[in-house]
Amino acid sequence: MEQLVDEIAALRRRLGDAVCIMGHHYQNDAVVAFCDVTGDSLELARRVPDIRARHIIFCGVHFMGESAALLASPQQSVHVPAPDADCEMARMAPAAQARAVLERLRALGRNVTPLAYVNTTLALKAVVGEFGGAVCTSANAPAMLRWALEQGDGVLFLPDRNLGRNTARRLGIPEEDQHTLALDDRGLAAGEEANPGLRRRLLLWPGCCPIHDAIPADAVSRARAAHPGCIVAAHPECAPALIDACDGNGSTSYLIKEAERLAAEATPPVFVVGTEINLVNRLAARFADRCRIVPLAPEALCPDMAKITLRHLRDTLTAVENGSAAPLRVDPALAAPARATLDRMLRACS
Ligand code: 13P
Ligand code: SF4
Repeated sequence: MEQLVDEIAALRRRLGDAVCIMGHHYQNDAVVAFCDVTGDSLELARRVPDIRARHIIFCGVHFMGESAALLASPQQSVHVPAPDADCEMARMAPAAQARAVLERLRALGRNVTPLAYVNTTLALKAVVGEFGGAVCTSANAPAMLRWALEQGDGVLFLPDRNLGRNTARRLGIPEEDQHTLALDDRGLAAGEEANPGLRRRLLLWPGCCPIHDAIPADAVSRARAAHPGCIVAAHPECAPALIDACDGNGSTSYLIKEAERLAAEATPPVFVVGTEINLVNRLAARFADRCRIVPLAPEALCPDMAKITLRHLRDTLTAVENGSAAPLRVDPALAAPARATLDRMLRACS
């Protein structure tokens, strides 16, 4: 470990301004220590156009690297140190299946605007772009859902049904206006076309983040019993029943800001945080002298985020230095429609 740290530090020094290392909040501490920029999905996407480095090393899952590659200039290259680090939720919305559903909805007379969570593949974003839609992140989902509702007679929110429902609640959209689609591999499941739910304003793709969705709602009451007077907040990828029991919910950056706010109080309460464990442990260590921060779900580890190790970072920097690194390639046919979805989000939330 020590040798790896020294090797990476030496590579960083030699590469200087040619390299910018970006990392999502769910990366482990050893990787985060080498990041020039850390952030939630929205912050990382927003930072890319201002980065001048020739090479961006993106420590996060594949879709985040793809978004960076879409927003980078043609002179820049983007490298994801572990290309097999692929968000499981993103895999739940294959582009061909989404296209089939959108085409059927159109054929059935619906003018539905697709709104894709940024946790989706580039190919899915391209389909969403073709159908006039946009992307959103957990940080701007309410603003983007409002935007999407203004575009047509309904919205298809994909792939995270939990984020979709939690956001709908925040906007006061009643359950009777929502419908979670029944799908098969090819599109709408048999019988779904006759389902009156298909006429509702908010259609939800039946995907989720297996890590956040697995946190049971009663974890909140158990945390309150264990830490009387505590404050509980969680990521909106958790199930609505859990989010309803919390004091607050929001993106990884929101959770960090809440920790900063509570730690600054004269008598900080225990702060219970429901999200990926790397972030919660880092917050607990950062504020250990001021405030007690505990995980709502100590088992909530994202195995894909964890695929990026110091060894991968060292190997990627080495390959960049000797010119053998293979940058992330964006299919030119998908680039324009996929980029349109990100541009619509950045414009709507500027
Ligand atoms: P944020 O947008 O809050 O960083 O979340 C991304 C993510 O993958 C959460 O699981
Ligand atoms: Fe994807 Fe869930 Fe991992 Fe986030 S925590 S990257 S949504 S699998």
